Amino acid sequence: MKTILVTGGSGFIGTNFVKYVMTHYPQWNILNLDALTYAGNPENHRELSDDPRYTFVHGDILDAGLLKKLFDAHRFDGVFHFAAESHVDRSITGPEVFLNTNIMGTFKLLEASLSHFRKNKPADFRFLHVSTDEVYGSLGFEDPAFREDTPYDPSSPYSASKASSDHFAKAYFKTYGLPVVVTNCSNNYGPYQFPEKLIPLVILNILDKKPLPVYGKGENIRDWLYVADHCEALAKVFEKGTAGETYNIGGGEEKNNLEVVQTLCDLVDQKTGKNGTSRDLITFVADRPGHDIRYAINSDKTRDEIGFTARYSFEQALSDTIDWYLENLDWVRSIQTGEYRQWIEKQYGR
Ligand code: NAD
Ligand code: DAU
Repeated sequence: MKTILVTGGSGFIGTNFVKYVMTHYPQWNILNLDALTYAGNPENHRELSDDPRYTFVHGDILDAGLLKKLFDAHRFDGVFHFAAESHVDRSITGPEVFLNTNIMGTFKLLEASLSHFRKNKPADFRFLHVSTDEVYGSLGFEDPAFREDTPYDPSSPYSASKASSDHFAKAYFKTYGLPVVVTNCSNNYGPYQFPEKLIPLVILNILDKKPLPVYGKGENIRDWLYVADHCEALAKVFEKGTAGETYNIGGGEEKNNLEVVQTLCDLVDQKTGKNGTSRDLITFVADRPGHDIRYAINSDKTRDEIGFTARYSFEQALSDTIDWYLENLDWVRSIQTGEYRQWIEKQYGR
């Protein structure tokens, strides 16, 4: 058996990843360390409460004392580092927490991992740093997709903080020999995504007959990847990736935002018998400052070296995602707390 530390395992991707590992990797135990910010929900793993393979610790990656205790007690065989502040718009209105969590938090986790790696010499140890394609900056419509050697050029406080954390992770490999791998992934969607992000926000606003806010002209392009594909890729990179290397992960599904919102309107209308009226809710609003125009991922290296390619098509997985939200309205309503309503008012009230 291996024991794996997962940070941020109660957020969107972390939740899906914990469930993926519990099903597909019966030889891995998981300790999920999560501070339960607004984005983390321990109820996501209610079904695991009695499972001896799963342990939840409510705590902060900034707490070096707690990290030391956990590494000493569990002698982890590897780390999947998801914990982060992840929303670009929030980083624009309040950047400081992004520096604290994403940069300092990653630093503390690297320090704890290095100390454990030196002391206990765990075989095949990996520190998998989960990062984003946003570190590469913005592409023009005709530019070739991001490769692993594309220079970093982040635009937002979020992507600048992730870029910094990537550099620290790589530096801990080059300077100290900590076996780090970095993954840079495109936009995820799927179950348990917090409804501040485009896809769940639009699904829920359609259901509530609220305006569907499209920034600028809706022409910005993202490469969409179903979260289950991302989880599979991460586990494979952990097993097969070379220490010190970066692996890009993408879905090969470039869509502009207006196209995504229109598709959501049509699918939700079909499923709820609304008869094609939801597109009337589309509302063009002020653009995001520093809004990157296009992301696209070249994931040839991950395909060739790791053997991963995305399985899910955008159309099918988007339809499944809508079904999940329709079937889990209790989950949705439970996270639409006062804090959530304040954010929506602050961001869209204008
Ligand atoms: P999320 O915001 O849904 O979840 C983040 C989780 O981290 C939450 O459970 C939160 O409680 C926890 N957390 C925050 N600060 C913490 C701290 N100081 N200590 C411990 N836990 C803390 O994020 P997500 O969308 O699931 O993204 C997870 C990771 O994947 C992030 O590192 C993000 O940069 C990266 N990523 C996300 C996407 C995407 O499309 N969502 C794409 C590529 C990469
Ligand atoms: O590319 C990977 C990144 O994808 C991750 O690193 C981030 O953690 C994740 O949040 C996501 O970032 P984006 O900024 O691309 O995702 P978001 O869902 O916020 O926005 C997607 C696109 O939709 C973007 O071009 C902005 C636009 N948008 C978003 C919102 C919330 C709108 O037009 N209206 C909105 O209300």
